Amino acid sequence: MPIGVRKVLGVCALCCAILLAPTLAMTHASQEEADTAIAARHGFMLIVVRETGPLFAMAKGDVAYDAEAAASSAANLDALARYDIGRLFIEGTSRSEMPGKTRALMAIWDDRAGFDRAYADMQASTAALAVEAGKGKEALVAAATALGRTCGNCHRTFRAREH
Ligand code: HEC
Repeated sequence: MPIGVRKVLGVCALCCAILLAPTLAMTHASQEEADTAIAARHGFMLIVVRETGPLFAMAKGDVAYDAEAAASSAANLDALARYDIGRLFIEGTSRSEMPGKTRALMAIWDDRAGFDRAYADMQASTAALAVEAGKGKEALVAAATALGRTCGNCHRTFRAREH
């Protein structure tokens, strides 16, 4: 092979290696990365529940309406929902790939646009709730109900009933 051609091929191989390496690293998350991502998304959802818990209790009437407490939980939810949860659903961490560890269905990876839309609905609802929650019980009930629906919609399609 002429030296020029060999040189060109060599450079090409190097470029390919450089371009492909990060892609491969991203698609094959290490076991530790996978476990951390799963733990983080469980943690995220649990913080969400810490804030929705009191709000839903007020909306249902189990706890007396408190404008300040409602506004503060709603503000926290709005801040939480600005987090891009997509990065916690990395390749290789669905329930079928890691049974017993996660309830995340493969549908998340098969229909990422649908999953992103479901999260965008939650984000829109937490933003509205942050505006409404402190304005009185009726406003809270409407906004909290709308938010609750977005949780259920995503879970119905993208979360298994059990691990
Ligand atoms: C965009 C989709 C989506 C939205 C919106 C969403 N969730 Fe989730 N949630 C999930 C998925 C997927 C899991 C399973 C995660 C796993 O097991 O790895 C989950 C898990 C949970 C869990 C279980 C956590 C654990 O430790 O196992 C709770 C509780 C929860 N969500 C509450 C909520 C509440 C409350 C809302 C609404 C305010 C909400 N979620 C909105 C997708 C969503």
